[in-house]
Formats: sequence, structure tokens, C-alpha cells
Amino acid sequence: MQRLDKIIADRTSYSRSEIKKLIKRGEVMVDNEVCESADKRFEENADITVCGKAIGEKYIYLMMNKPDGTVCAVRDSRERTVIDILPEEYKGRGIFPVGRLDKDTTGLLILTNDGELAHRITSPKKEIKKYYIAETDKPLTEEDIAAFKEGITFRDGTKCKGADAENLKSDEKFRVGVTISEGKFHQVKKMLAVCDIKVLKLTRINIGNLYIDVKLNKGECRKLNNIEIQRIFFSNFN
Ligand code: URA
Repeated sequence: MQRLDKIIADRTSYSRSEIKKLIKRGEVMVDNEVCESADKRFEENADITVCGKAIGEKYIYLMMNKPDGTVCAVRDSRERTVIDILPEEYKGRGIFPVGRLDKDTTGLLILTNDGELAHRITSPKKEIKKYYIAETDKPLTEEDIAAFKEGITFRDGTKCKGADAENLKSDEKFRVGVTISEGKFHQVKKMLAVCDIKVLKLTRINIGNLYIDVKLNKGECRKLNNIEIQRIFFSNFN
């Protein structure tokens, strides 16, 4: 629970004195009722209108089905970013992508303006598992699967933690499922390259227990619901 004037200050650019005046004048409604006391406490996600206009919540949590051809950056002078393709209502709210997927990687991407959540997801200490499906030029051998379990060493000598890799049943194409608990640059592609396997397409399916919503088309996003947000904050993801 938080003071009404503090909630409004967090969500808008009004000064504290402007907020007090607006509240006194009866211009502020909380959950459809006028509230004239600045120090009354409400849930931080309460529905609030100021002068009849809804003011958004402080933190926004989105999942996007990232399309091919977009970069995980807030802005880029040459490339289309995942922020460029957000619906207008989410622009200018300080939202950024949590972690990085390559330009040609698709699938689950979390976007938020909450630095604490981003840190929880990307911190190497948390070892959050991420599952990817790769379309490849050939299947894994038993030796490859064992090497993943042991921990692949990149060609430059960088050692990865143990990971799970499996061949997936597929009609004509080769598909490989890979679970990793770190986020090194181009990690999945480089791990498979060590096994002499080329990745043709790569998509991320889940981050911990948050799965891509199959109803989202490529490039679409939606807000995470409260259960999904709680899961990210409080589960150990493994
Ligand atoms: N591993 C990769 O190689 N690329 C990604 O985008 C994510 C994981």
C-alpha cells in the first residue's frame, strides 16, 4: 500500500504540490471514486484517473514474440529495435528488453521498465533456465549430448556450464532442443557450432517457468498477468 500522492508522482510528471492541488479539487479518482486525501493509501496498481485521464501503472511487464530482423536494444541508428515495434501506448515509458536475443532469433522476450526484475532474470547467479528450439542442418549425436551435459568449451576456450540438448521429433527438418542456464553471446549457436552443427533458425520457448504465449503472433506483445509476474519475482525458476 502506498500514499495516493506518491503513487501519482511515480506514474506522472506532476510535481508534489500540483498533485496535492488536483486531489483537493476532486480531480483524482481511485477505482472509480473521487479521493480528496493525498495521504490515503492504495495498492500500487490501483486504477487512477487524473482530470478524467487514466494514468498508467508504474511498472510495465510485457512478453513479446520477438520477430526475426529486430535487435534487442532501446534505440539503434540503423536497425529496427524491439522498442520500435511496441504499440504506441508503451512507448516513452522507459521500457527495455530484458537480456538479448540475436537479430535473427525469434520467440519469448520480456520487456519492462523495472530494473529489479530485469536484474533477477539476467543475473548469472540465479541460473535461470532458458529453453530454445533450433532448426539445424543435422541432428545431435550421443557424444554431442554428452558434451553438452559436461559443459561445452567454445573454440576461443570459454567454458560453458553443463546444459541439456535433445533431438526433437520432426517431419523433414532437424530440430534440437537446448536448455541453458547462462546467457553468453550467441551461446546456443556457438555451442552447436562446436559440435559442427549449423543453426538455421532459433526460437526461445521459455525463461524459467514463463512460456511464450502461443496466441501471440510474431511481433505482438501482451502484458504479463499478475500470476506470471509473481512467478518471475518469487520462483526459483528451475
Ligand atoms: N543463443 C544464441 O545463439 N542466440 C540467441 O539469440 C540466444 C541464445
